[in-house]
Amino acid sequence: MRITIFGTGYVGLVTGACLSDVGHNVLCMDVDEAKVARLLDGDMPIFEPGLEHLVKRNVANGRLRFTTDTASAVAFGTLQFIAVGTPPDEDGSADLQYVLAVARAIGEHMNDYKVIVDKSTVPVGTANNVHETIRQVLAKRGCDLDFNVCSNPEFLKEGAAIEDFTYGARIIVGTESERAKELMRECYAPYNRHHEKLMFMDVRSAELTKYAANAMLATKISFMNEIANLAERLGADIEAVRHGIGSDPRIGYHFIYPGCGYGGSCFPKDVQALTRTAQQVGYEAELLASVEAVNQRQKGTLFNKLAQALNRDLTGKTIALWGLSFKPNTDDMRDAPSRDLMESLWTAGAKVRAYDPEAMNECRRIYGDRDDLILVKSREDAVRGADALVICTEWKVFRSVDFYWLKQQLAIPVVVDGRNLYEPYDVKQAGLLYFAVGRADSLQKPGKN
Ligand code: UDX
Repeated sequence: MRITIFGTGYVGLVTGACLSDVGHNVLCMDVDEAKVARLLDGDMPIFEPGLEHLVKRNVANGRLRFTTDTASAVAFGTLQFIAVGTPPDEDGSADLQYVLAVARAIGEHMNDYKVIVDKSTVPVGTANNVHETIRQVLAKRGCDLDFNVCSNPEFLKEGAAIEDFTYGARIIVGTESERAKELMRECYAPYNRHHEKLMFMDVRSAELTKYAANAMLATKISFMNEIANLAERLGADIEAVRHGIGSDPRIGYHFIYPGCGYGGSCFPKDVQALTRTAQQVGYEAELLASVEAVNQRQKGTLFNKLAQALNRDLTGKTIALWGLSFKPNTDDMRDAPSRDLMESLWTAGAKVRAYDPEAMNECRRIYGDRDDLILVKSREDAVRGADALVICTEWKVFRSVDFYWLKQQLAIPVVVDGRNLYEPYDVKQAGLLYFAVGRADSLQKPGKN
């Protein structure tokens, strides 16, 4: 099949690479010439395990190509995927200008039947909006061409995007047209061999499914963070509580890890956008607003715990930071808890000595050169001469630590762990003060007292 993908960001690039790898002919279009030039050189604009290999392999065999030329991109595919960004507006609603610009371009250049596929996460009603935009452009051109608009939301986790695309639990397609349905079935047939993963539904339900999935997962996390905060105050251990409730299959073990708040390109943006959509139709989504508020508060707990442990005396202190990305296996720092922490530390007059296995360049890009940010090459280097340590991301490399060694590195023996990586008892044995999430300070490991 011939497939065009607009946007070579995270979603567009993964979709293009995966679809070409199963035999489709894919043309990826992006307005950013420098990015396309880099991609043609095999240089990935993002870090995602397995992506570079997939892109290079399919560029080499000629099934994956890149262009900046809109007219040829529209002419190429019967399926036209829109995978451009939908950044939040100032009020939290999704900004559709890039999606609608692609819709206009398709309307201007199309000369035969097309299926336009909304892959970007877009508010309910956007497919309708895209349809209307294309119809108006065609009407201006005096063309009477047939086309359909589908919603096909992605469920890709950063760091596992290729696996999620290939082995995802379901493929949601919203369409009311039989012709589009058959083409979408053909597109996803390689992923649908062993059991039926395709779920066809009406367009609006498909659009809402994406938001509902992310809002549900964000709700689980905020719920656990709330219970963790309670556990701290009640003298309970959230890790025991997590096991206790996760064993109930109605609750399950997934996405109930307490931490320093969710970040990334999806949860914060999508929860806000859904709250905003609700307002627009006259509904106050109180639960969603609380999910967001709890998350904001949770991101602030790292700084608050540290400030409290250091008697609010942060001026001139150097704080070691392990982990900058919003989660492991990505260099993405969008809405990462590390950013809230660093910014609060700088305001309080402290310096940051940070290490992350992948996100150092991204951090440099965001914050530039500044005296109060020192980016170092290893976790060991980060703690050398630092006053205290904060852990923001659960990268594997932070999991096993000699706590006696760590105690010697830190001027003040304080470790704030936003990811519950260690047994409190083990850390404290080495003489460190350990502040994790939802693990009451007084807890001792059973059997070791
Ligand atoms: C998410 C969805 O999982 C994916 O289906 C959707 O398409 C895009 O958004 P992603 O943002 O890549 O994917 O990351 P994910 O692994 O879901 O984690 C999101 C955030 O939640 C991270 O900051 C993570 O640290 C946090 N999290 C996750 C927790 O704090 N606790 C958990 O139990 C799980």
